[in-house]
Amino acid sequence: MENSPLIYPVPKAFADASNLTPDGYKSLYERSINDRDGFFAEQAKRIQWMTEPTHVGSWSFKSPVKIEWFRDGILNVTESCLDRHLETRGDKVAIIFEGDEPGESQTFTYRELHRHVCRFANVLKAQGAGKGDRITLYMPMIPEAAIAMLACARIGAVHSVVFGGFSPDALAGRIVDCDSHLVITADEGVRGGRIVPLKKNADAACEIAARNGVTVKTQLVVQRTGGDVAWQDGRDIWYHEAAAEASVDCPAEPMSAEDPLFILYTSGSTGQPKGVLHTCGGYLVWASMTHDYVFDLKEDDVYWCTADVGWVTGHTYIVYGPLANGATTLMFEGVPTYPDASRAWQVCDTHKVSLFYTAPTAIRALMREGDDPVKVTDRTSLRVLGTVGEPINPEAWEWYFNVVGDGRCPIIDTWWQTETGGAMIVPLPGTVDMKPGAGTFPMFGIEPELLDADGKVLEGATEGNLVITASWPGQMRTVYGDHERFEQTYFSTYPGNYFTGDGARRDADGTIWITGRVDDVINVSGHRMGTAEVEAALGSHPDVAESAVVGYPHDIKGQGIYAYVTTTAGTVETDELKRDLVRHVRAEIGPIASPDLIQFSDGLPKTRSGKIMRRILRKIAANDYDALGDTSTLAEPAVVDALIDGRMNR
Ligand code: WTA
Repeated sequence: MENSPLIYPVPKAFADASNLTPDGYKSLYERSINDRDGFFAEQAKRIQWMTEPTHVGSWSFKSPVKIEWFRDGILNVTESCLDRHLETRGDKVAIIFEGDEPGESQTFTYRELHRHVCRFANVLKAQGAGKGDRITLYMPMIPEAAIAMLACARIGAVHSVVFGGFSPDALAGRIVDCDSHLVITADEGVRGGRIVPLKKNADAACEIAARNGVTVKTQLVVQRTGGDVAWQDGRDIWYHEAAAEASVDCPAEPMSAEDPLFILYTSGSTGQPKGVLHTCGGYLVWASMTHDYVFDLKEDDVYWCTADVGWVTGHTYIVYGPLANGATTLMFEGVPTYPDASRAWQVCDTHKVSLFYTAPTAIRALMREGDDPVKVTDRTSLRVLGTVGEPINPEAWEWYFNVVGDGRCPIIDTWWQTETGGAMIVPLPGTVDMKPGAGTFPMFGIEPELLDADGKVLEGATEGNLVITASWPGQMRTVYGDHERFEQTYFSTYPGNYFTGDGARRDADGTIWITGRVDDVINVSGHRMGTAEVEAALGSHPDVAESAVVGYPHDIKGQGIYAYVTTTAGTVETDELKRDLVRHVRAEIGPIASPDLIQFSDGLPKTRSGKIMRRILRKIAANDYDALGDTSTLAEPAVVDALIDGRMNR
């Protein structure tokens, strides 16, 4: 992606009222680096502790990797998110729910949310759930998703939210990996006017999990649509029936700062998705601090993050960050283009949204519909516009800034990862002139560095692999059940550093531009997908002998999924087979893993030791044949010409 030479000054009216100034950022950043523990000890006061911590950070990025923050602190995150607001913000709206159909909305004050969470927590307790138990959530974007997460936290259970778009197989894999005996789901979800059969999928997942040695004992079902669902007596329980008998009084379980808060599965370069584990104390401090600074938060803001709670953005920036800060957070069940391309902006007008946070892929999809659907709405409530999930191309950035924000609102491009818990590289609003597409400067306490392939530190204007040299409170603590994989994945490439898997460029002003993944992870519509996972799904189809999956540039999705498939001998390679392969991958993983393009190929470019050279496959998929690089190490160089012919003839 080309860097834009453009620089946009912070809109004057915004800068005059922003919480931070450019100098304010610089001095706070310096303090956070020079006196890390002093800085974070102060930040820890943002949240409510039962026992205040005396320790701040204690960590090592060298083997054995160990990361702890505030380790002798005792807390329950729900007290920060709910109880402590009751006195001053009891009647303030905590959650605005906007349903799939326009006009279907509902609000929950902090007092109401507190009652709902306590009641839900008591229902969980009545099912025998308690501290340390893993509870899997497979939910639509309804308030009960947030309520269920907080209810788990209330009793010290560890939630594992699985995105509602994943298939039964994918859900089962996650249930089994963390040995989860309780699943919370809904009868059906509704998205863009379409029904999502959540209970049906969850039922199928329970069966698969049982075959793999994990029995789900309880399925708690929230009623969303009232549609017909199958029922297994003894296992399935309607939430509304159980709740009718439950008390709204539930004391918060005291937790150590380093007790697990949640597991969230994410894709990596190799193997099956890993369970990223976050703990209570550090995560909440980081969620609260970053949400406050990134959005220039003020008491009367109405904040809307369009992510799904199935992703980390939904965890940190729909639920934990905003609620810890006593903000009003909007949960949207639908999609920004339903019933039409004005929807997102209509929702902003209806609820007077001031802080809006979405993904570049959504911006590009809306941009394609032209300016009119935007211009028919008012949007004067908007103050800050954020993006996350993938690099934003300058065209989309400028459209977001000029058309959506009418040039009034800074664009906050937040780079971070499931592993980092919250925003890491950000142009904090009001502190720096904006360069479209640049993550810009590090968040407080974050020390990024760019390294070359050999681990040499690169100085000045340069491009390299992005590492973080020192820990921060929101950092993941381990891969659930596999600490060795944690060390191997993040700390073995550049010992002593956290390796992000991303590449980045730094310009002469020190501005950082994230260039994208440098490993075998692709980023489709802002969602991470491991090429190895898609290959494994393809490989389980009877007609597939071998496959290789790479990302390629895609106008709307950022990256699309390109699959090279070698079929088994005697298979007839038809378009119908391609469609069948797509169906197969959707069933194995979910629609987000669907290959966009499939090319049948008799052979794949391999080194003499049998390693597939993806570099070449990426170039061919991108129609970039001139820069294939050195192909002399290939076992059969002729394969490349055949692949190029196949690509050009598509
Ligand atoms: C990419 C999402 C460029 C990056 C919060 C990262 C970005 C991966 C940006 C993490 C951004 C996220 N600019 N790239 N602003 N934000 N990414 O774990 O490649 O779903 O490593 O976390 O998304 O995706 P994840």
